[in-house]
Amino acid sequence: MPVVTFVDEGNKEAEAAQDEPLIHVCKRTGAAILFGCEVGVCGTCMINVLEGKGNLSAPESQEKDSLVMFSAKDNQRLACQCKVKGDVKIEKAHDL
Ligand code: FES
Repeated sequence: MPVVTFVDEGNKEAEAAQDEPLIHVCKRTGAAILFGCEVGVCGTCMINVLEGKGNLSAPESQEKDSLVMFSAKDNQRLACQCKVKGDVKIEKAHDL
């Protein structure tokens, strides 16, 4: 099973089902990543993907538009829009 590591939470690890939405993993484990709209618009859930960027589902059109709008870096994603396909290490992109 893929493992999600929350780097800014003492490297807390959580197992995810294959293709499980990252938001489900975050909520199930009580991760400190905050969510707002949950549909890829508000940017509240921006994360830095420190390892395993290719182990998240590719961004779909809404997320792509939002990442451009927020001037996201190459390793940044919206946690509410990603599905987990393999091991990833993530952290919050900003404190809100
Ligand atoms: S919660 Fe709004 S973009 Fe993810």
